[in-house]
Amino acid sequence: MSDWVDARVHEIKNWTDVLFSLRIKAPIDSFIAGQFTKIALDLNSKRIQRAYSYVNAPNDEILEFYLTMVPGGKLTPNLHRLKPGEKLMITKKASGSFVLDSIPKCKTLWMLSTGTAIGPYLSILQHGKDLDRFDKIILVHAVRYSTDLSFSNLINKLKDKYVKKLHFQTIVSREKNYYSLYGHIPDLISNGELENAIKLTIDSDSSHVMLCGNPGMVNDTKKLLTNTRGMSINLKASPGHITSENYW
Ligand SMILES: Cc1cc2nc3c(=O)[nH]c(=O)nc-3n(C[C@H](O)[C@H](O)[C@H](O)COP(=O)(O)OP(=O)(O)OC[C@H]3O[C@@H](n4cnc5c(N)ncnc54)[C@H](O)[C@@H]3O)c2cc1C
Ligand SMILES: NC(=O)c1ccc[n+]([C@@H]2O[C@H](COP(=O)([O-])OP(=O)(O)OC[C@H]3O[C@@H](n4cnc5c(N)ncnc54)[C@H](OP(=O)(O)O)[C@@H]3O)[C@@H](O)[C@H]2O)c1
Repeated sequence: MSDWVDARVHEIKNWTDVLFSLRIKAPIDSFIAGQFTKIALDLNSKRIQRAYSYVNAPNDEILEFYLTMVPGGKLTPNLHRLKPGEKLMITKKASGSFVLDSIPKCKTLWMLSTGTAIGPYLSILQHGKDLDRFDKIILVHAVRYSTDLSFSNLINKLKDKYVKKLHFQTIVSREKNYYSLYGHIPDLISNGELENAIKLTIDSDSSHVMLCGNPGMVNDTKKLLTNTRGMSINLKASPGHITSENYW
């Protein structure tokens, strides 16, 4: 059973009509960057709980989660309505193994995300621990529209902090613009456009690929990399090249 503690809303930061950061304070146990926790509200005498990845670094006082309000969703519209000072619940302990500890040393670490699943990478990069094991880190954020690319200020600061190591590539799928690739992650790997843009290859000698977010993206990319690039799934018992987390 989950060990719940009370949390208080510090701020709801709206990035767009549906994308928001839930910033809270709560007496949680320390977590590892990349992990998720559970957040809940008691609605009509029933506890509604869902998993959310930490965006902040471990030990930050304000805990941050990056959410999309899912139309008709049971929890997210209610979280979006919260006001500063209002109460919610969070599990004391975090979960998950989408963390750097489980990733073997390699030249290039690819951090691929759709939508709100950029969150765990921002936690890892803000924490900054154990990044020496990688020569290059390629953060990829795939969204529908460029207005869904939240966190550009934070990412620019991270690029300044990790000069020559951190590269950021945006992808949009429902409009074309000069700065972003156009389409879906698996297609842009398959047709070589992602690697051309970064000028590095995704291969089993040099790379580890982290995948987070939309299950369609995660599953199609895994299939593509295992079938065409000789890469294998990273397991505790047998280290490989692909580590993933599905958001639903
Ligand atoms: C390990 C893990 C970490 C997660 N971290 C985050 C996070 O950091 N930020 C975040 O926004 N969500 C995250 N999620 C998803 C989150 O747990 C909820 O599923 C989501 O917020 C929807 O909850 P809801 O009650 O509003 O919708 P529900 O009433 O549960 O309806 C969800 C349905 O909406 C659809 N859907 C469409 N888009 C999404 C989406 N982006 N996420 C989930 N379902 C979607 C799915 O078909 C799903 O069945 C995570 C999920 C997992 C498993
Ligand atoms: N502006 C908005 O109204 C808005 C913005 C963001 C989120 N939302 C809501 O939030 C929910 C989640 O949306 P989200 O944008 O966070 O996540 P999402 O629907 O997973 O979309 C994120 C990115 O992943 C792409 N994608 C979808 N399926 C894929 C697949 N099988 N393989 C590879 N890429 C794939 C999407 O492209 P596609 O363009 O093909 O979908 C988009 O570029 C939705 O229910 C949505 O209604 C709305």
